[in-house]
Amino acid sequence: MPLVPMRQILDEAAKGGYGVGAFNVNNMEQIQAIMEAANDTDSPVIIQASRGALKYSKMIYLKKLMEAAVEEYPQIPVAMHLDHGNSVETCLQAIELGFTSVMIDGSLDESGKKPNKYEQNVAVTKKVVELAHPLGVTVEGELGCLGGIEDGHGAGLSTEEVNTHLTDPKQAEEFVALTGVDALAVAIGTSHGAYKSGRVDPKTGEVLPPVLAMDRIHEIHERMPNCHMVMHGSSSVPPELTNEVNAHHAVQRVDGDPAKLRFMGKVFNLHDALDMAAFLMTLTTQNRMPGTQGVPLEQIADGIRHGVRKVNVDTDSRLAITGAILRVFAESPGKFDPRDYLKPAREAAYKVYVERMKAFGQAGHARDYAPMTLGDMKAVYGK
Ligand code: G3H
Ligand code: 13P
Ligand code: ZN
Repeated sequence: MPLVPMRQILDEAAKGGYGVGAFNVNNMEQIQAIMEAANDTDSPVIIQASRGALKYSKMIYLKKLMEAAVEEYPQIPVAMHLDHGNSVETCLQAIELGFTSVMIDGSLDESGKKPNKYEQNVAVTKKVVELAHPLGVTVEGELGCLGGIEDGHGAGLSTEEVNTHLTDPKQAEEFVALTGVDALAVAIGTSHGAYKSGRVDPKTGEVLPPVLAMDRIHEIHERMPNCHMVMHGSSSVPPELTNEVNAHHAVQRVDGDPAKLRFMGKVFNLHDALDMAAFLMTLTTQNRMPGTQGVPLEQIADGIRHGVRKVNVDTDSRLAITGAILRVFAESPGKFDPRDYLKPAREAAYKVYVERMKAFGQAGHARDYAPMTLGDMKAVYGK
C-alpha cells in the first residue's frame, strides 16, 4: 500500500470515534518499532518528522525508510506528515519528498520561536492549503501557542504565558473557514518535551500534571463538530519511563578500588566522610530528570470524545529509548556493538507505541477502509 493522505485517516477516525497517534521519528529503529506496533495491533498510523528530523536523517534516508515501511506492511494505512513546518518552502520540500501531509505552524513566525500575528498565521496557512490540496496533500494548521522546547520549534513560553496563548474557540471557527485546513492543532495548555507542568503540590512536594483547558476543546467541537483537532505535547511522561532513565546513570570504580568512584566526571573517595556525603548528594540529586508529569491518558480520551483525532507523541518514545540504552550501559559496561543497545531501545519504543495505539482507540481499525491515493484525494478537494 502506498502512503495514504492523512485526511483519510482522520476522516475514518472521526467516523469510528477514535484518535490516531502521530509519532515523531528520526531513525530506522523508531520507524520499525511503530510499524511493528501498528501491525501487531492492526492500527492505522501517522508517522511524522520535524524539520530537525529531516536535517538529522538527511531527508533521503527518511524517505527510503518510509518506502520500506509501507512495503513491509502493505495492509497498514500510514500517513507521512511534516511536523511543525515553519514556512511555505519547508512544506513544499516535504511534499516533493513524498509526504502525504504537512503541518504549517503559522502560530509562530518562521524562526519557530516567536508567536505570530493572527493575520500572518491565516495568510501563510491559506497559502499552504492552496498549494497542497491540488496535489491531494493534507494540511494541519495551528492556532494558539504551546509551551516548551527552547532549542527546537516553540517559543519557550512559561506556564503562565501559555495560558495567555490558548486557542480562542470563536477565532478557531473563523481560522478554519478562512484557511480551509484539514486539521487544527489547538493550544490548551500542553507543552512539548518532558517538563509540562511546573506545578508542585505545596504540601507533599509531588509534581502535578499540567492543567489543561479541556473546555476549549469541548467548545470548538460544539462549534465545529466536523473539525479534526490535534493535540500536541501529548506525551504522558509516565514514571516508569522517567524512572528507567534515572536508574541507570553509571557510577564507575577508579583503579579497581571499590571505595574510589567516578560519577559525573568527579572522583569520590568514600573513606573520606565529606567526599562520601558529596557523593551521596550528587547521586541522589544531580544528573537526574527532575520529577515530572505529562498529559494523563484520561484527558486525551476526553479530547478524543470531543473531536481530537490526531495525538502527537514524541517524548515518551525518546524516554523509552534512552532508558533502555542506559540500562544496557549500566548493566553491561563492556558492550560496544550498537545492536546490543539499539535492539532493546527499539523494543522499549515498541511497547510505548502499542500502549498508546490501544489507549487512543486506533487499534483494530487498519482494515476498516480501502486506502486512498493522493490522486483520489485531489479529486475530493477539487469537488
Ligand atoms: O515538536 C516537537 C517534536 O517533539 C519534535 O522535536 O524538533 O526536536 O525534532 P524536534
Ligand atoms: P511531546 O513532546 O509531548 O511528545 O509532544 C510531541 C509533539 O507535539 C510533536 O509535535
Ligand atoms: Zn508539536
